[in-house]
Amino acid sequence: MSEPALIRLQGVTKRYGQGATELMALKGISLSIEAGEFVAIMGPSGSGKSTAMNILGCLDTPSAGQYLFRGAHVESLTRDQRARLRRRYLGFVFQGFNLLARTSAQENVELPLLYRGDSPARRREAAAQALQAVGLAGWEQHMPSELSGGQQQRVAIARAIATQPAVVLADEPTGNLDTQRSHEIMGLLLALNRDHGITVLMVTHEPDMAAYARRMVHFVDGLVALDAPNPHPTLAAPAGLATAPGSEVT
Ligand SMILES: Nc1ncnc2c1ncn2[C@@H]1O[C@H](COP(=O)(O)OP(=O)(O)OP(=O)(O)O)[C@@H](O)[C@H]1O
Ligand SMILES: [Mg+2]
Repeated sequence: MSEPALIRLQGVTKRYGQGATELMALKGISLSIEAGEFVAIMGPSGSGKSTAMNILGCLDTPSAGQYLFRGAHVESLTRDQRARLRRRYLGFVFQGFNLLARTSAQENVELPLLYRGDSPARRREAAAQALQAVGLAGWEQHMPSELSGGQQQRVAIARAIATQPAVVLADEPTGNLDTQRSHEIMGLLLALNRDHGITVLMVTHEPDMAAYARRMVHFVDGLVALDAPNPHPTLAAPAGLATAPGSEVT
């Protein structure tokens, strides 16, 4: 028997509110994602992209339908089991970086390791490695307020990969960055996918950033309107940009 897909959504719906305020944010999404893919999710505002990402990230549950992660039915897990799955397999990157203020880059990256119960020595080691992987060796003790937007997003990516997740879920990771910084972040996500086999699911409004993905999924009004390979993915950030060192993380 063949391996189950890494991620499989079958007829997933999400209803918010009830009665007059009821809204179907997802109307029946089916999507299968294999380990190692790099998928861009696009679509108009309100089409359900973040709703789907929250479900994929085990932060929320479908109203109906099935979500299988490595063949396991996520929709029937308890809240605790979902949290465990999230901590073990998933890393998150958000548009607003979501770093703790007055907390060093190092401590921000250590946070998911702390939740996981790693020892201080192990946390320090893994955080240092993750920060190095995103090109921030030497910036460990800086506070978010002392870092540029691009650097803050790198810290957030380091935090997402410090636990060595199978999947990174990124919801508009370049939404708050200028074009150059956006390409740097894309170079980094590309390197994580290509060199470390991390599956990347990324929501973006920007075609230039989606172009890095090898598969494009378009949401329209709570449905998948298009799901197609990208025949000519961008293979590297434009020359002259500092891209991620690809190979020193393990
Ligand atoms: N917690 C919530 N309660 C009620 N309605 C919600 C909630 N979250 C999202 N919605 C609604 O669900 C629909 C889909 O929202 P969602 O955030 O998934 O869109 P999106 O595709 O991510 O849009 P954007 O590109 O603007 O981020 C929208 O109509 C939104 O108003
Ligand atoms: Mg959104």
